[in-house]
Amino acid sequence: MSKVKDLSLIDEGMKELEWAEKNMPVLNAIRKRFEKELPFKNLRVSLALHLEKKTGQLIRTLRAGGATVRVASCNPLTTDDRVAAALTQFDGIEVFAWANQNTEEYYQNLNSVLDSKPNLLIDDGADLINIIHFKRQELIEHVIGASEETTTGIIRLKAMEKENALKFPITNANGAYSKHLFDNRFGTGQSALNAIMSITNSLIAGKNVVIVGYGWCGKGLAIRARGMGARTIVVEAGDRMPYADESEPSGWHKGLEALYEGFEVMSMDDAALIGDLFITVTGDKKVIDAKHIKKMKDGAMLANAGHFDLEIDINGLEKMAANVKEINENCQEYQMKDGKLIYLLSKGRLVNLARPAGQGHPLEIMDGSFAIQALALEFLAKNGKKLPIKVIDVPAGLDDYVARMALESHNIILQPLTEEQKEYLTGFNEGT
Ligand SMILES: NC(=O)c1ccc[n+]([C@@H]2O[C@H](COP(=O)([O-])OP(=O)(O)OC[C@H]3O[C@@H](n4cnc5c(N)ncnc54)[C@H](O)[C@@H]3O)[C@@H](O)[C@H]2O)c1
Repeated sequence: MSKVKDLSLIDEGMKELEWAEKNMPVLNAIRKRFEKELPFKNLRVSLALHLEKKTGQLIRTLRAGGATVRVASCNPLTTDDRVAAALTQFDGIEVFAWANQNTEEYYQNLNSVLDSKPNLLIDDGADLINIIHFKRQELIEHVIGASEETTTGIIRLKAMEKENALKFPITNANGAYSKHLFDNRFGTGQSALNAIMSITNSLIAGKNVVIVGYGWCGKGLAIRARGMGARTIVVEAGDRMPYADESEPSGWHKGLEALYEGFEVMSMDDAALIGDLFITVTGDKKVIDAKHIKKMKDGAMLANAGHFDLEIDINGLEKMAANVKEINENCQEYQMKDGKLIYLLSKGRLVNLARPAGQGHPLEIMDGSFAIQALALEFLAKNGKKLPIKVIDVPAGLDDYVARMALESHNIILQPLTEEQKEYLTGFNEGT
């Protein structure tokens, strides 16, 4: 039995779902095939995702494939109550989510989606998978596999794999090119700035915008902030991430890349002095801490687009403040003891997704990301029992299919390689 905020929002939610359906052609094509092939017949799927209209389309795609589906939100602030209400009207779909849950409600909802004893999971940030592994191990025997959506979740799951703690296979949806190249970069780039503009109604042009973390998301934010006329400053870590493979670039490589891309690059200590708007997107904690906030200019705005609300030291900010005032639902004004004002957007949670300002990534972006999730889940349903208990890549064929379909939705058809080219590219005899 679903638990949502307000069933009077069903009609509004249906309109949202309809709009998503009209603009998600790749997922629609997959849904048509699933209706015929029923890859999830007799399977129970549980999801923890930011619950809004695009997620609604994914859920309906899985349901069309024969699954019974339960969904909770992967973040206390990011549910669109209209869509949550509308989804309760579909047979075989149960929803346990609303905007502004407290921590207890958040975990209760995650547990409710697990009460169905799911066979397949989609998670975003790995909280759901974590509960099964460490608090509800009796459910493990029912699980064929799970698919994880975001960088932070994959880091947590790879750490579990390393400690031999993982109990079922995980597909790394975030690792698919059709996901992180577009979702993390162009999706976060557009949607985080969109939410910040909507919350503050202020101009990006002419501002010193500091992007902390120049990974996939940070690159997207930096190019879009520059495109809107900001003086864009990048902060990176003077270190190698402890979870990174040796083949991956370090923070120094990323800093140099940002510099050669034409951005200003500096330490957080220096950026703190000049920034007007700070956006953290590292997946790390306390990248803006109390000592940085102390140095900031009057009126500085702080936003986070990384997965958890740990990137900005909110406790430190609260301790330094003499007074806190709400400007609007997504903007708190902290008055420091010396009178300086600092603005925290969306309580330091994912600014592009925290309701009501955050609408999440654009439709076309989530079409690709959720097409990957739908295909990854089908792959798990077909092969799960044979797969190694590891974090595994989404097969390249599925990833290519999604990129090709997305290009074709823009009426762009690329030419395949000729047989002669294939022979040349796999041989070693032909040279100068
Ligand atoms: N807002 C969204 O919609 C959205 C979308 C995708 C991913 N995410 C989340 O955003 C975060 C970043 O994801 P990504 O894919 O860009 O990851 P990434 O690994 O590509 O990039 C993270 C970057 O942060 C840097 N970094 C880490 N610690 C730092 C520190 N102390 N100071 C400065 N830089 C530091 C790393 O060197 C790296 O370059 C993750 O938490 C991810 O889950 C959010």
